[in-house]
Amino acid sequence: MQQQILTVKNLDYTYGTGGKCVEALKGLNLSVNRGEIFGFIGPNGAGKTTTIKLLLGILMPQKGELSISGKLPTEPETRRTVGYMPETADYYGYLTPRELLNMYGSIFGIARSQLRKRVRDLLELTGIEKNADRLMRTFSKGMMQKVSFAQALVNDPDLLILDEPTGGLDPVSRRKMREVIRDLHGKGKTVFFSSHELSEVELVSDRIGILDKGHLLATGSVKDLVGGREKGQSLESCFLKIIEERI
Ligand SMILES: Nc1ncnc2c1ncn2[C@@H]1O[C@H](COP(=O)(O)OP(=O)(O)OP(=O)(O)O)[C@@H](O)[C@H]1O
Ligand SMILES: [Mg+2]
Repeated sequence: MQQQILTVKNLDYTYGTGGKCVEALKGLNLSVNRGEIFGFIGPNGAGKTTTIKLLLGILMPQKGELSISGKLPTEPETRRTVGYMPETADYYGYLTPRELLNMYGSIFGIARSQLRKRVRDLLELTGIEKNADRLMRTFSKGMMQKVSFAQALVNDPDLLILDEPTGGLDPVSRRKMREVIRDLHGKGKTVFFSSHELSEVELVSDRIGILDKGHLLATGSVKDLVGGREKGQSLESCFLKIIEERI
């Protein structure tokens, strides 16, 4: 039996209180196996980022349970083994990528001698070495995405949680990121990512989960879910059909 690295049970999350509250997640159940690449898809406002923030302990569950490697998301040991790329890369603009990565590396307690090489390798891996010493306030969206991806890898995490990682990336950079994700997969790492780019999701995921209005509608491999699609039928229309059929 495959070992689960991430489990979510009966999770509810509501923003706000009183009349203006938004029920973002309703009884969400989800599990991700160790070593798999799991794509989390669903329309805008489905609850993907909310789920991710709960998995990181940025938000606290109001009902239900979450665990990562059997521990709570807020435990220091969990934080040490998880890498996170947020939906919007909003880092201090008066730092350079090298400074930012050094700062995150120090927070994780990586020794200075080791960190220098690690930062150099990550800058190269994510394609920002040429801009490594430029202030980030001058960066484009795609460049910031690459910095954010490097930041998520700085602690060599077992579980990588990426919120729309390919948003704003050009096709070559997207392919490069896909290769890095596959390499990490080859090393036994687990990747949980949200995306709207369905062809990307199909190319890289072992399994996907479809979320809509805070409910998980389906999980499985892309083949399991839309394997019988007709020639010429787009992935978008298949997923839309699943959403329409199950609500
Ligand atoms: N800080 C907040 N305050 C109130 N409501 C919020 C807040 N953040 C999210 N929501 C609401 O929670 C629901 C889920 O939002 P969430 O950001 O998790 O969706 P998402 O699936 O990540 O969407 P997207 O694909 O657009 O990133 C939406 O209805 C959203 O309006
Ligand atoms: Mg989101």
